[in-house]
Amino acid sequence: MSKETPVLSAVDIWKSYGNGATFLSIIRGACIEVTAGEVVSIAGPSGSGKSTFLHVCGVLDPPDKGIVSVGGMDVWSVSESRRAKIRNSELGFIFQFHHLLDEFTLLENVAMPSMLAGNSRKSALDSAAVLLNEVGLSDRGQHFPSESSGGERQRAAVARALILSPSIVLADEPTGNLDSANSTIVEDLIFELAESRNQAFVIATHSVELARRAHRCLTLDEGILSS
Ligand SMILES: Nc1ncnc2c1ncn2[C@@H]1O[C@H](COP(=O)(O)OP(=O)(O)OP(=O)(O)O)[C@@H](O)[C@H]1O
Ligand SMILES: [Mg+2]
Repeated sequence: MSKETPVLSAVDIWKSYGNGATFLSIIRGACIEVTAGEVVSIAGPSGSGKSTFLHVCGVLDPPDKGIVSVGGMDVWSVSESRRAKIRNSELGFIFQFHHLLDEFTLLENVAMPSMLAGNSRKSALDSAAVLLNEVGLSDRGQHFPSESSGGERQRAAVARALILSPSIVLADEPTGNLDSANSTIVEDLIFELAESRNQAFVIATHSVELARRAHRCLTLDEGILSS
C-alpha cells in the first residue's frame, strides 16, 4: 500500500433499517478517511448509529449506498470470499464486552484468530505471547478470563484484535464497561499502540475524555457525521 492510500475510506454511506412504518434512516451520507497511525473517535447520543457505522466500516454489514474501501480496495465490488479475507486480515475489532472465550486462557484467546487463519498452533501462540507482553499481560497468559479483571480482559481483547496485524482496528465502546482507572489503562494502551505500531483505530465512545484524546474527533448526530 502506498503511503498516501488511506487504510479506510468510506464515501457517502447511507444505511437504514426496516421498511414502511418501521423504516429508520440511521446513517445519511457519512464520509470518513483514516490513515495509518491515526486514532479517530466517533461520539454521539445513544442510538445515533455509531455501532451501525462501525459495522459498515468493518465490512460486517453492507451500506444501502456508498463505497467502503480498505487499503484502496472497494470491498463490496469483490467476491464474498475476497471480502471475508479482507475482513479477517485487514480489520480488527474490539467490543464493549471483551467476548473472550471462557474455556481458553488469555494466551489462547489472543492466538485464536491466528489459528483460525490457518497458522500453526506454535506460531500463533508465539505471536500471542509477544502481543500479551506489549499489552502488559506477559505473566497472565495462562490465566482464564474468569480469573482476570475487567481491564485485563479488555487488554487481552486489544491484543486479540491485533494478532493478524490489521491495517485498522474498529473499537465499539472499548472502555464502556470499565471503571475509570481501567479505562485510562486501556486508553493509554490504544494510543501507545497507535504510535508504536502505526496502528489506525476508529473508536465509538461515550467517553468525553477518550473522544478528546483522539487525533480527530467526529460526531454522529441524526445520521450526519461531522467533525
Ligand atoms: N438490526 C437492526 N434492526 C433495526 N434497527 C436497528 C438495528 N440495529 C440498530 N438499529 C437501530 O438503529 C439505531 C442506531 O443504533 P446503533 O446501535 O448504531 O446506535 P449507537 O449510536 O451505537 O448507540 P449506543 O451509544 O447506545 O451504543 C437505533 O435506533 C437502533 O435501534
Ligand atoms: Mg453502539
